[in-house]
Amino acid sequence: MAFDSKVQKQVFGKWATGVTVVTTDGPAGKGGLTANAVTSLSLNPPLVLVAVAKTAGSHAEIQQNGCYAINILALNQEDASKRFATPGPKDFSGFGWKTAVTGAPILEGALAFVDCRLKEVLAGGDHDIFVGEIVDGGAQDDGAPLVYFSGKYRQLAN
Ligand SMILES: Cc1cc2nc3c(=O)[nH]c(=O)nc-3n(C[C@H](O)[C@H](O)[C@H](O)COP(=O)(O)O)c2cc1C
Repeated sequence: MAFDSKVQKQVFGKWATGVTVVTTDGPAGKGGLTANAVTSLSLNPPLVLVAVAKTAGSHAEIQQNGCYAINILALNQEDASKRFATPGPKDFSGFGWKTAVTGAPILEGALAFVDCRLKEVLAGGDHDIFVGEIVDGGAQDDGAPLVYFSGKYRQLAN
């Protein structure tokens, strides 16, 4: 019998993570989604990954655009996280952003970002794993991260 997905969600709800918005732009248009299934994968070559649900609208957009940027959110960017966690076309109005090397939008105020060309798409059940080659990136010296734990937004204690 397949492992209970409710329990899997409970287990990984205890995996405290940062929160990112993964953005994209290109022939399929500007879009993105809130994601915490992101990892730095390789330093040489510089690779990252994000796991995106096959049902997410952003899945096709990232694949067709061939690029994405991972924006690591600051504590005061909960509104961005909520907006990009809502399915459908994404409204970037009200958020400052600049265009990265690949064309993906980088959100103003993000703690850090990497800009990536889509290198490989690996199968991962009901998600696909988008491996990206980093072409640009940067991090702020200071600033507190937005944290996600047990289904709620949190902040670091110190
Ligand atoms: C904190 C948080 C983390 C999330 N992480 C992921 C993720 O890693 N991969 C994913 O496919 N969806 C993730 N989601 C859900 C998507 O953000 C959500 O399904 C979104 O509506 C997708 O938008 P789209 O269908 O327009 O692409 C996460 C949501 C939240 C609130």
